[in-house]
Amino acid sequence: MIRALLALGLALVFFSSGAALAHQPVVLLSTDTTAAKGPLLEDGTVSFAIRASFTKAGEKRAFRAQFKAGDALAIQYLIVEKKPESSLRTNELPTLVVTSPMGASVTIKLNERTKFYEPFSKVNYLYLARYNATAQAGVYSFVITSKGKAGITVAVGDREVRGDVLRGAAPTQSSTPSSTPSASSTPSATPSQTPTPTASKTQTPTASATGYTLAQVKANSTAANCWTIVDDNVYNLTTWINSHPGGSNAILSLCGVDGTSAFKSQHAGRAMPVAQLNSLKIGTLKE
Ligand code: HEM
Repeated sequence: MIRALLALGLALVFFSSGAALAHQPVVLLSTDTTAAKGPLLEDGTVSFAIRASFTKAGEKRAFRAQFKAGDALAIQYLIVEKKPESSLRTNELPTLVVTSPMGASVTIKLNERTKFYEPFSKVNYLYLARYNATAQAGVYSFVITSKGKAGITVAVGDREVRGDVLRGAAPTQSSTPSSTPSASSTPSATPSQTPTPTASKTQTPTASATGYTLAQVKANSTAANCWTIVDDNVYNLTTWINSHPGGSNAILSLCGVDGTSAFKSQHAGRAMPVAQLNSLKIGTLKE
């Protein structure tokens, strides 16, 4: 009885604080190896759940979040309550180092193992750390370093409103490696050139006003240039091939074709894959 009440109390606390429940998902890519390369959360007080998965020790994933002076800096370190993560000792889990705009770093101490059932995705999580402070104005960087195969979620912010994530241009594997992806680089006539602007907001549909033909999608059917169609939108999956938790083959099978049914039969209605897909959008399909 006491345990049940305790559980209910905890559930209410988590529910009322909004923790984990409706955090907007952001999946870190294998190319997000430094804070500068990783995504930027425009407002670090908006609730985001940042997922990082690792296959071996020594890998890095990083992102940034912007704050105003006096904002609440709320960070939580979570793992899904399943193996291998749940059976790893604290010193076998990835480290999270947060660096303030002034350059002061803290390594988030993993000092709890509190169960938390997240009803939206029906997943059991464990809180391993919760860190709260008052933010300085500027951009904080978050660097996660693995000690072995594991996946973690870093929740940042607690305001349940919609926020924006800025990402740099997806790195292309074009035939001209010397060209830098600067705003001044001239677009090439080859359909394999990634037409994403230097920075795109993942949740801004207007960033993807460009239209592409089916022929252009078909011309990007390789691992080096992999485009797909889902619901009349066009996506550049190239950077996601090796980051996909369900394996690279699932993504490779979508290159150059209409991936609507493959994507939906696996992931329809699941927040994380849908958010990831949105972040890879480059335009719409035109006649
Ligand atoms: C562009 C298309 C796709 C995107 C953006 C995508 C995205 C994702 C994401 C974000 C996850 C992690 C979900 C989580 O941790 O909760 C995931 C997992 C997975 N995906 Fe995909 N996926 C795509 C296509 C596919 C396809 C076509 C298949 C199968 C044919 C597939 C099979 C899987 C499997 C088996 C997992 C691991 C288990 C799971 O979380 O469901 N995915 N995918």
